[in-house]
Amino acid sequence: MLQKILDLLKEVSTLSVKSPEELESFRLKYLSKKGIISDLFEDFRNVAVSEKKEVGQKLNLLKKNALEKYNSLKSELLTTEDISQATDLSRPSFPFSTGSRHPISIVRNEIIDIFTRIGFTVSEGPEIEDDDHVFTKLNFAPEHPARDMQDTFYISRISSEDSSPEDILLRTHTSSVQVRVMQNQKPPIRTISPGRVFRNEAISARAHCIFHQVEGLYIDENVSFADLKQTLLFFAREMFGKETEIRLRPSYFPFTEPSAEMDVSCKICGGKGCNVCKYTGWLEILGCGMVHPNVLEACNINSQKYTGFAFGMGIERLTMLKYQVNDLRLYFENDIRFLDQFKTAF
Ligand code: PHE
Repeated sequence: MLQKILDLLKEVSTLSVKSPEELESFRLKYLSKKGIISDLFEDFRNVAVSEKKEVGQKLNLLKKNALEKYNSLKSELLTTEDISQATDLSRPSFPFSTGSRHPISIVRNEIIDIFTRIGFTVSEGPEIEDDDHVFTKLNFAPEHPARDMQDTFYISRISSEDSSPEDILLRTHTSSVQVRVMQNQKPPIRTISPGRVFRNEAISARAHCIFHQVEGLYIDENVSFADLKQTLLFFAREMFGKETEIRLRPSYFPFTEPSAEMDVSCKICGGKGCNVCKYTGWLEILGCGMVHPNVLEACNINSQKYTGFAFGMGIERLTMLKYQVNDLRLYFENDIRFLDQFKTAF
């Protein structure tokens, strides 16, 4: 009997199984009630007393080894099963698609980042405004065409003939935020106002009734046009690259005097001329000027003591130049196929 147990010990240690069925026959053969080991325990009764100790030890060892073997074969089978059934190695490694920032947000953040680096704060204000903050305090003459229903979305208008300070409307520019800042803070003021603006335009590839602006304002003693130019040159080079040149063309806004429009050298063709810059080598990106003394006075800032500059740009326009997307409507449709293309941007 001892020899039989020793042979079985060897057999058990070298056994292996390839399937759950083989594992089950292993269990039946060695470990079940009618299995070999159980039979051996039956026979143990007949073993001579002198051999009982040694045979008993080996028999217990056999039982222990067979059980351990069974458990280890079982867990081996489970892990191979796990890998072949539960894990599909052909699946893409990143099953969860991440979102992306909207291109308008990417460019807005970039503009904010550039100006905050040179000491500008960010100010925000209401989208639903009154005539006073959008027009009157900004030196718009009472009959100025921008006040016309054709351009401005009115929510309530006291009289259809004349405008009144109580008229409620959707802001047409974020200069209204700067009026609020001037009313509530003392110079020096250095702030930019990003936000949505609304104008009564027919929607097309080149125009939309909603768009986004960032407007800037700097008021202190002795602020000059040279400061404006230097600030905008810094901005243009941070935004479009170190080689960028700017050019200022005289323009007109009721709230600035003198006023200008700023072009940057076309970064697509490097100024040589291409279809993006319409073969001029320049791209118009913003309006600017020295804050009109009437505006300062309307906001209770002493125009004898303080001067300032202001500028305003459309984010859609800058985004179009940056990403070469030439249809404004794409920015508002939220088509995933469009938005997905900005995943690698920050
Ligand atoms: N508010 C102007 C606009 O909406 C832009 C601008 C701002 C121009 C400040 C000059 C100075 O078009």
